[in-house]
Amino acid sequence: MKKMSYLLKLFKDRPIIALDIGTYSIKLVQLQRLKREYKLLNFGMIPLPPGVITEEKINEPDTVVEAIKNLAASEKIKTKHVALAVSGSSVVIKKISVPVMSEAELAEAIQAEAEQYIPYDIADVNLDFYILPQEDQETNQMPVIFVAVKSEKIQEYSDIIQRAGLNPAIIDVDVFAIENSYEHNYGTYPGVIGLIDIGANITNINILEDGITSFTRDIPFGGNRYNHAIADQLKVSDEDAERLKLGIMVKGISSSEVVPIMVSVTQDLALMINESLDFFHSSGPEKDISKLALSGGCTRIDGIEQLLAEILHCPLEISNPFKNIKVDEREFDPEYIRDMSPLAAVSVGLALRSPVDKL
Ligand SMILES: Nc1ncnc2c1ncn2[C@@H]1O[C@H](COP(=O)(O)OP(=O)(O)OP(=O)(O)O)[C@@H](O)[C@H]1O
Ligand SMILES: [Mg+2]
Repeated sequence: MKKMSYLLKLFKDRPIIALDIGTYSIKLVQLQRLKREYKLLNFGMIPLPPGVITEEKINEPDTVVEAIKNLAASEKIKTKHVALAVSGSSVVIKKISVPVMSEAELAEAIQAEAEQYIPYDIADVNLDFYILPQEDQETNQMPVIFVAVKSEKIQEYSDIIQRAGLNPAIIDVDVFAIENSYEHNYGTYPGVIGLIDIGANITNINILEDGITSFTRDIPFGGNRYNHAIADQLKVSDEDAERLKLGIMVKGISSSEVVPIMVSVTQDLALMINESLDFFHSSGPEKDISKLALSGGCTRIDGIEQLLAEILHCPLEISNPFKNIKVDEREFDPEYIRDMSPLAAVSVGLALRSPVDKL
């Protein structure tokens, strides 16, 4: 077992760049900490051809290394220290209850406590934990969140960063980066809120109770499902399916053929999300989720917000990860920032990380 935060101490107080290595595109964000606020220094994005990265692995590492180098060069990046995040089935996050003990004692005991929840050999994972503040005096138990990531996954992503001439300084997970971004921009939500980031391959869910993670899940469902359904049903190429999804005209196809397919995939997505919300309800005390805050590229799909709110019977809004970040309109086109902001939740959350943070 290796500690995930082992690298952090080495990079205390150094500036970092955030790289969200998604399966659809790589996003780069750099923030500058001013006295009372953060300022956007860099925001860039580079698309990846389909299949270069899948949920399981990086299939074409050379392409990803080149893309990162190009992105860092075009954004004129000076710092080498990178915050990145992993997600998917290699990540296990769980809130458990353990007897009250010190952090040092827990560091010894966590392996045995977490082992039963991890579907991999404990020797093959990096494990980190965070003691939550609600100690129960009566039962003498305290809640702890642990994060286990397959070491192989961390190695795979660290190698890519190093091959691009950079340093993997912080390795986080998507759901916590999304939480970090939400809280910076909107503050701690009083009550139960579900943060949902709908990407190309994965939908990340993080349900928080009064600002503390209670349940997380990465569902293997995202924007690619729309492409597959459109390509299958309208017998078009993958490239045309992507165009049609984005609302771009393709010869011989009318939008009235595309819309019902889009709606049907969104309904499937809603069912998948609902399963997770049900699971949260069934596994904990009776607490209603009073709001869903969405991010990810799929929130740009026309009408998705209304349709999901209707099916999930929950107030829902799309988060703006730049809401509480100073963006100079002379340096960044406001329209571009507005259009791309849904894709930036993970990268902004990572960029806000201080190298001395724990989780
Ligand atoms: N205007 C748009 N209309 C519809 N879909 C869009 C639009 N813009 C982006 N998308 C879709 O959003 C998805 C990309 O979102 P995002 O950048 O959040 O994914 P990612 O982080 O690269 O993927 P993942 O996290 O799943 O690995 C793609 O499926 C893309 O087609
Ligand atoms: Mg993503």
